[in-house]
Amino acid sequence: GKVAVLMGGTSAEREVSLMSGGGVLQALRARGVDAHAFDPANGDLSALKTHGYQRCFIALHGRHGEDGTVQGALELLGIPYTGPGVMASSIAMDKIMTKRIWRFEGLSTPDWRLVASSAETAQAFAELGTPMIVKPAREGSTLGLTKVSSLGQCEQAYLLASRYDPEVLCEQFIDGDETTCPVLGQGASATALPVIRIVAPEGNYDYQNKYFTDVTQYHCPSGLPEAEEREIQRIVVQAYRTLGCRGWARADIMIRKSDRQPFLLEINTSPGMTGHSLVPMAAKASGIGYPELCLRILASASL
Ligand code: DAL
Ligand code: MG
Repeated sequence: GKVAVLMGGTSAEREVSLMSGGGVLQALRARGVDAHAFDPANGDLSALKTHGYQRCFIALHGRHGEDGTVQGALELLGIPYTGPGVMASSIAMDKIMTKRIWRFEGLSTPDWRLVASSAETAQAFAELGTPMIVKPAREGSTLGLTKVSSLGQCEQAYLLASRYDPEVLCEQFIDGDETTCPVLGQGASATALPVIRIVAPEGNYDYQNKYFTDVTQYHCPSGLPEAEEREIQRIVVQAYRTLGCRGWARADIMIRKSDRQPFLLEINTSPGMTGHSLVPMAAKASGIGYPELCLRILASASL
C-alpha cells in the first residue's frame, strides 16, 4: 500500500528533516515501496486518509513531528506510523521529563535545573558548577545550546535557549567521550546497534558540525573497551524501554573521563537519517545498509 514519508514540518529542525526524509524516500522507492513525500507544513494530515495512505514513515524532527502531536493525529486517523507512540514521543522530546524518569529509575544522567529566568540560570550555575550546558528542553540538533563557563555568560545563554523554548534546562557538563547508540525493536526484543564515538573539533558537535562540515570524526567501531561498549548498549536499551520507546531511537551518552562513568543525555525518537547521520552509520557497521534500515523501520510501523 501507499506509504507517506512525513518530512519538513514547522520545527527549527525543518531543514534537517527535509534531508532525512529525502534519503528515506529515495531508499524506499528504490526498494519498490510506493512512497511519497508529505510535508505537514503544507498539508492537512487528514489528507493522508483521503489519499489512501496505509502507513507513515515519520522523518520529522522536533516539535510537531517528534513530540507526540503528529503521532496523536495518526492515531485518530488510524494510520500506522514508525517510532514510538504518543506518550513516549512526548516524554522523549522533553529532556527534563526524560531525565526525571531516568533518574527515578536509577539511570545515570547529569545533574540539572529547570530555569525560567536569567537569574535562575545564574543560580543554577552556582549550584551545578562549571562548565554548564544551557539548552531548550524541547529542541534538537544542538539548536539554542550554550556551554557556559562564567557567570557573565548565563544571561545570554538563557535568552538564546528561551528563544526556542520557554522551558530551559541547565545541565552539568560531563567532560569525556561523546557517544551515541541507536536501538531498534520493542520490549524484550529491543536491541542496541554498535556505539559511535564522536570527536568534533574542540568538542563542538554543534549544528554546523552535525550536518554541514566534514571535520567531525566518527568512530564505529567505537574503539572503546569491549566491556564499556557493552555497558553503554545495556544502559541505552534500558533507557529506551523505560520510556516505552518502540521502533527505533538513538540515545546520546557522555562517558566521564575521570572515572569512565556513562551519563545519558537524551534519547531521539525520530533520529536524523541524513547523509551525515548516526543511525545509518551504526547500522552499516552491523551489516544493515541504508535501504535495508529504512525497510526495517517501516516494517515496525504500528498504532
Ligand atoms: N535531532 C536530530 C535530528 C537527531 O537527533 O538526529
Ligand atoms: Mg536530540
